[in-house]
Amino acid sequence: MEILDWFGRFHPAFVHFPIGLLIGAVLFHWISIRRPTWKGSAVVSTLYLFGFVTSGLAAFAGWMLAKEGGYDMETIFRHRWLGILMVLISLALWRMTRLGDLNNRGPKWLSLALVFGLLITGHLGGEMTHGEDYLVESAPEFIKKLASYQEGMKYAVLDDPDSAIVYDDIIKPILQRKCWTCHSNSITKGGLNMEDLDLFLEGGKNGKVIEANAEASELYKRITMDPERRKFMPPKGTALSYQEVALVGWWLDQGAPTDKSVTTVESPPTIQSILMGRHKLDTKPKSHIEKTKVDPVSEDVMQKILAEGFAIKQIAMNTNFVDVKWKDIDTLDVNERIKILSAVADQIAWLDLGSSNLSDAALSTVGGMNNLVRLRIENNPITDNGIKELVNLKHLESLNLYNSKISDLCAPDLSQLRSLKKLFIWQTDFSEEGIAQLKTAVPDVEVIGGYTFNTPQSSD
Ligand code: HEC
Repeated sequence: MEILDWFGRFHPAFVHFPIGLLIGAVLFHWISIRRPTWKGSAVVSTLYLFGFVTSGLAAFAGWMLAKEGGYDMETIFRHRWLGILMVLISLALWRMTRLGDLNNRGPKWLSLALVFGLLITGHLGGEMTHGEDYLVESAPEFIKKLASYQEGMKYAVLDDPDSAIVYDDIIKPILQRKCWTCHSNSITKGGLNMEDLDLFLEGGKNGKVIEANAEASELYKRITMDPERRKFMPPKGTALSYQEVALVGWWLDQGAPTDKSVTTVESPPTIQSILMGRHKLDTKPKSHIEKTKVDPVSEDVMQKILAEGFAIKQIAMNTNFVDVKWKDIDTLDVNERIKILSAVADQIAWLDLGSSNLSDAALSTVGGMNNLVRLRIENNPITDNGIKELVNLKHLESLNLYNSKISDLCAPDLSQLRSLKKLFIWQTDFSEEGIAQLKTAVPDVEVIGGYTFNTPQSSD
């Protein structure tokens, strides 16, 4: 059947004949209605006849071409059947104009339908040879707007890495766009069906194409080999971009999971940035403050807190969390005034009460600040009892206790702070041994303590 395949290749060139002939036929048709003296009826019906014959041939060639695969199946379906409808309409118009009056309602309406149909069919055909965005891509800005064309809109926006499935949401769309045209339920080149997941995992005529790492996978070899080689995939159409190859490789290296979400696999920095760029998917773990929303602190409360001797400010533009600091006013006693902070217990993320003569009792107010992330209470007469008040601060990441009266005894309480990353306990009553034990008990916490330390750095 090779000669027919070859014939198929002429389809894109050959279609211009029926299009030209049929549009000419319709033009003559309407002119002849306006100018009855022309007696154009015979010419019109002959043009429709030529249009019918050439469109029939073009459709046949198109059918042969489509068998080769490599085109978007949905578009091919529409293009094919619309094309065949055009063949039938031109046949009908030939009969009608030969046997009846050009001015009859039937042929008049049908001729308009023909022009309209030809435009759509042709456009779908062009889309397949040049890509969907061919016309809009280089159009003036206002036409792009009309066609709501936006670069980069081709990829789904995935906003939650917990629910984004690596295969379904990231890999499958790539294969669907670039491989399914030849490896699907309807066309299985090389015996490989990628549309049906079970068959995909089974592989092609030479066995499995997916292994648990990229280098060993036939699929990966095919997309990364020299594009000049006959085995390179896809053999025609647009090759995978650098980013797409990287994503497919990443998926294979993760063991080619079909149900895992993005958060349950490892993603190296390059993949993270590709996911961000293509899918707006932020895979970096979010801090407690970024994830949590709190009500704003009212102006009224702000003023009251200021009046009690504290400085208070939002920690950033886009959050309601606040940073509170004791202003170290010698005449005021922080232990009497700290109660006011209960009004913003949820909003305080950073609290600095260093060198304020803070007592153990005052720490009970601090213990109720659920979203506290950083706490500086260094240079205060705090003891192990005070630390007991802090054990419920489950988001506390940094705690500065240097130069206070705490000892080895508070180690069990400190190890309850499950988000803790940094702990400053130098110049306390902690023993060298106690610090060593604490370090083994909480290996994820950076414990800054000890005696051999000369000049400990600032505390955050
Ligand atoms: C235009 C059609 C076409 C497209 C598009 C296409 N392939 Fe193929 N593919 C073939 C043909 C034909 C074969 C069989 C010949 C061969 O093995 O090279 C094949 C075979 C394969 C095989 C080997 C199967 C086996 O067991 O031998 C793999 C793997 C493969 N393709 C992967 C892909 C991937 C991945 C894509 C998308 C990036 C893709 N193909 C896109 C036509 C295509």
